[in-house]
Amino acid sequence: MTIPLITTKSEEIFAAAQKIMPGGVNSPVRAFKSVGGQPIVFDRVQGAYAWDVDGNQYIDYVGSWGPAICGHAHPEVINALKEALEKGTSFGAPCVLENVLAEMVIDAVPSVEMVRFVNSGTEACLSVLRLMRAFTGREKLIKFEGCYHGHGDMFLVKAGSGVATLGLPDSPGVPKAVTVSTLTAPYNDLEAVKQLFNENPGEIAGVILEPIVGNAGFIPPDGGFLEGLRVLTRENGALLVFDEVMTGFRIAYGGVQEKSGVTPDLTTLGKVIGGGLPVGAYGGRRDIMSMVAPAGPMYQAGTLSGNPLAMTAGIKTLELLQKPGTYEYLDKITKKLSSGLLQIAKETGHAACGGQISGMFGLFFTPGPVHNYEDAKKSDLAKFSRFHRGMLERGIYLAPSQFEAGFTSLAHTDEDIDKTLAAAREVMSSL
Ligand SMILES: Cc1ncc(COP(=O)(O)O)c(C=O)c1O
Repeated sequence: MTIPLITTKSEEIFAAAQKIMPGGVNSPVRAFKSVGGQPIVFDRVQGAYAWDVDGNQYIDYVGSWGPAICGHAHPEVINALKEALEKGTSFGAPCVLENVLAEMVIDAVPSVEMVRFVNSGTEACLSVLRLMRAFTGREKLIKFEGCYHGHGDMFLVKAGSGVATLGLPDSPGVPKAVTVSTLTAPYNDLEAVKQLFNENPGEIAGVILEPIVGNAGFIPPDGGFLEGLRVLTRENGALLVFDEVMTGFRIAYGGVQEKSGVTPDLTTLGKVIGGGLPVGAYGGRRDIMSMVAPAGPMYQAGTLSGNPLAMTAGIKTLELLQKPGTYEYLDKITKKLSSGLLQIAKETGHAACGGQISGMFGLFFTPGPVHNYEDAKKSDLAKFSRFHRGMLERGIYLAPSQFEAGFTSLAHTDEDIDKTLAAAREVMSSL
């Protein structure tokens, strides 16, 4: 751990990057805009750690935003990839690895009877919405404030930490005509959903949600919320879609749907199932999935979809996750981290709330409780920024936004958590 943090090379590279890529990045949150200060340019990752181009080492709680659940660059994943690489990087034709990963996903995720692989979570969510509309013959969609389902036009309404203007798209360039069919409700508010169904009878194709929110910070569903949505969607002839891009194979092997016992009609996946390579997937009931081309009329395609490298990394990652004790371990170390952070906040006089489930956690600088995005927005963002920078300076890499969940991995050790908590105590004592 280096104090002060020397980041000369990071600064040089990021300055050059800003001249040639918008904001210097290929995905906005990486630019550290919401916490301010200089982003860190990574050089390599291994296990629970990341090293920047200046040689600083960090305990990484971002994990490439979720995929690195077995730890970065797991030797078994890397070896499997090396072997697969020898056979070529892309086929654009059927390959048996697709069958293997598809069977693993179908076996694991309760709602999935058939699956289609794509290349990102965004693509999975775009495709699932088309499918919801194709299957029901209806156009309207209910999503929740603060939930992110990728950057498709019709999802860019109250999409997490983006600009939240009533009824308007979060981004210029998104036609109003596209988002008028996107209805929003506060997370954990069944009455609001009921009202939307009553106001739009026979018009709503379905409800999509993060069954545990990670894109407005970490927000779990209240007891009965998922069950209530299951009943409401059935009563109204609409589909229930769990976006498990973040939670799939993380909260439990079979995702939130396994843990909660609530089975949606359709599910989107990404992150973990690609083991660090670009993958997304959507799947669900056989009768619905049978509408997807070429089995049915709903068109969706992809040059690199089912790519052998991505399939290989996914298969190996899921194999590693199947080992006994995996999720118990994730839960144990993450609980230690989360309860430790809350305890330290309390002892150092900061109003904070948060929690964890399995290897996903969050900490808000607000007394809470946080049930939805409006509650999350009450957090002290300036304090979070100072906390983030202090932790970074002590070798702890946290998500650079109050409105992002944190992730642990099987590679994080008790000692890593102890170091993280010691750093948190120092930082919180000085905030
Ligand atoms: C719940 C959820 N859905 C969809 C996406 C979009 O996935 P991708 O970034 O792979 O396009 C994300 C990304 O973080 C996500 O967390």
